[in-house]
Amino acid sequence: RKYRLAVIPGDGIGKEVVPEGLRVLEAAAKKFNFELTLDSFDFASCDYYQKHGKMMPDDWKAQIGSHDAIFFGAVGMPSILPDHISLWGSLIQFRREFDQYVNLRPVRLMPGVKSPLAGRKPGDIDFFVVRENTEGEYSSIGGRMFPGTDREVVIQESVMSRTGVDRILKFAFELAQSRPKKHLTSATKSNGISITMPYWDERVEEMAKAYPGVKWDKYHIDILAANFVLHPDWFDVVVGSNLFGDILSDLGPACTGTIGIAPSGSLNPERKFPSLFEPVHGSAPDIAGKGIANPVGQIWSAAMMLDHLGEPEAGKAIVTAIETVLADEKLRTRDLGGQADTVACGKEIARILS
Ligand code: NAI
Ligand code: MG
Repeated sequence: RKYRLAVIPGDGIGKEVVPEGLRVLEAAAKKFNFELTLDSFDFASCDYYQKHGKMMPDDWKAQIGSHDAIFFGAVGMPSILPDHISLWGSLIQFRREFDQYVNLRPVRLMPGVKSPLAGRKPGDIDFFVVRENTEGEYSSIGGRMFPGTDREVVIQESVMSRTGVDRILKFAFELAQSRPKKHLTSATKSNGISITMPYWDERVEEMAKAYPGVKWDKYHIDILAANFVLHPDWFDVVVGSNLFGDILSDLGPACTGTIGIAPSGSLNPERKFPSLFEPVHGSAPDIAGKGIANPVGQIWSAAMMLDHLGEPEAGKAIVTAIETVLADEKLRTRDLGGQADTVACGKEIARILS
């Protein structure tokens, strides 16, 4: 088994946590007997922009389009470049051009991390948020009429296609079926949004017929958000449209304590294009260059990448090593009340894994 990875550290702490992710990936490759080819790229960063006047070279697709996956750090340095330019010139291009229509985020309370929800222990919260990543509420159809007058009207349409809805639901049902609880929850709002959301519900009902082993339910987005906080133990796989999924995929990790450890994947499940794995956090300019960033979000993203590539045992072993390190105050980083720096934490996870 051989995998070719495009490694893009990006900006800020991306350059500090990506090397720790690679350290752990290399330890996993050795332990589980697969080969990695790591190709690093300096584009999709504000440094690249300063040198070249754009975020990426014109042939970026040719450079990374045939890799098995993209291992990404973070992009953005607001002191150099406004965020909409840095993000639209990089991550958003990857999502669109590589048809990464699934955004997947595990929501799991880890040892050593205090949940802001009272009384929750590791084991109580363990689910996935599956967000549709290409259509829905984030369309560019609409416009502004009579701007600046008191007749001003602003319209933005939601777009749901059968292909787009069905493929995200299929991914979510498959994921639910692969998990012990086999439970899927759909986010809706068909009581208020009376055209697209009833359609979404209809497609859920239809897709459910192909997965008789999966129990499923649906909640309106408002009460669903409340239940994330009140009853996080109710959930196993939660699927939502682009907007609902966006909100839930930040709320979920927030319920499990810290931004420094949450991972994510932007997936093209058919593997026609590379999928991208990155921590949920950004480039953290406030702590960049100090060597104190928590590398766990990046390392956990590496574990998700290995799951996707077909090395689930290695992925699982990395998550177990992360749990061991987080449970120990001396080994976790300062944002979690620990004492370790970025490199020490990464080295320890790699050591436990080996
Ligand atoms: P941020 O996630 O970079 O930082 C928010 C806060 O969390 C900061 O106080 C930071 O020090 C802390 N933090 C984040 N990651 C940490 C880690 N691994 N260990 C310890 N502490 C950590 O979000 P912010 O400040 O809103 O954005 C900074 C830049 O990152 C912006 O340019 C933004 O656009 C970009 N960004 C990029 C993302 C990406 O590449 N996918 C995602 C989110 C933001
Ligand atoms: Mg978001």
